[in-house]
Amino acid sequence: MSVIAIDGPSGAGKSSVSKGVAAKAGWGYLDTGALYRGLTWLAQQEGVSTPQEISKLVRDSKLNFNLDPLNPMLVAKDPDDKNKTKDLSEVIREELITNSVSGISAIPQVRAELLTLQRDLIEKSMAEFGGVVVEGRDIGTTVWPDAELKIFLTADVAARAVRRQAQLSELAEVSANSVADSLAKRDSIDSMRAASPLRQSEDQIVLDATYLNLEETIQALWNLIEERKLNG
Ligand code: DC
Repeated sequence: MSVIAIDGPSGAGKSSVSKGVAAKAGWGYLDTGALYRGLTWLAQQEGVSTPQEISKLVRDSKLNFNLDPLNPMLVAKDPDDKNKTKDLSEVIREELITNSVSGISAIPQVRAELLTLQRDLIEKSMAEFGGVVVEGRDIGTTVWPDAELKIFLTADVAARAVRRQAQLSELAEVSANSVADSLAKRDSIDSMRAASPLRQSEDQIVLDATYLNLEETIQALWNLIEERKLNG
């Protein structure tokens, strides 16, 4: 049973790398950023803004994540029909959410509430798939400190902005400079917050993907998994 924790700043390629490694190993995949984004979306939809109200949205189990790396999906209970769920995977990538999510993720009560959900999903993935690749900002430091492998995946801000711009250009026209500004702003809020900030810890292995493409980054991580005999 292996938990691979992949932390790092926005736009370093955590999602593509984590999904690729999980699919290769036959493990589950958990995108914890999607949970924070989903909660931000729910809070906006329901017009709530206090820490108590936002935490309640998690407690009412409005959010769930499909852990299959070939079909990862963030879902929420449909407000119009409690027996149905709604796929939020696309709406949570919108700019309105991206610009507000760091603020909501800085609220300690919200983090505490999501911690339970994240741990439950990790346990579920281990039971179903025998392992899980989890990406976020505080997985190795807070969510699952006993992870068998902890990675800090990073790349310089210019490289991250170019990649993020390529993803966003499918949705809207954006300049590399504005993307770099938005990444830097989010990194700063995520790293400066008091509750469980994004930080590099001594037991993480730093993987700098500035000069690596996706396949090379997946391979570098795969080599570490094999070296440690974590696969099977
Ligand atoms: O990985 P992402 O860009 O989708 O994450 C969205 C936001 O969620 C990010 O700005 C910080 C927050 N986040 C967090 O605080 N802790 C995590 N484990 C994952 C994400």
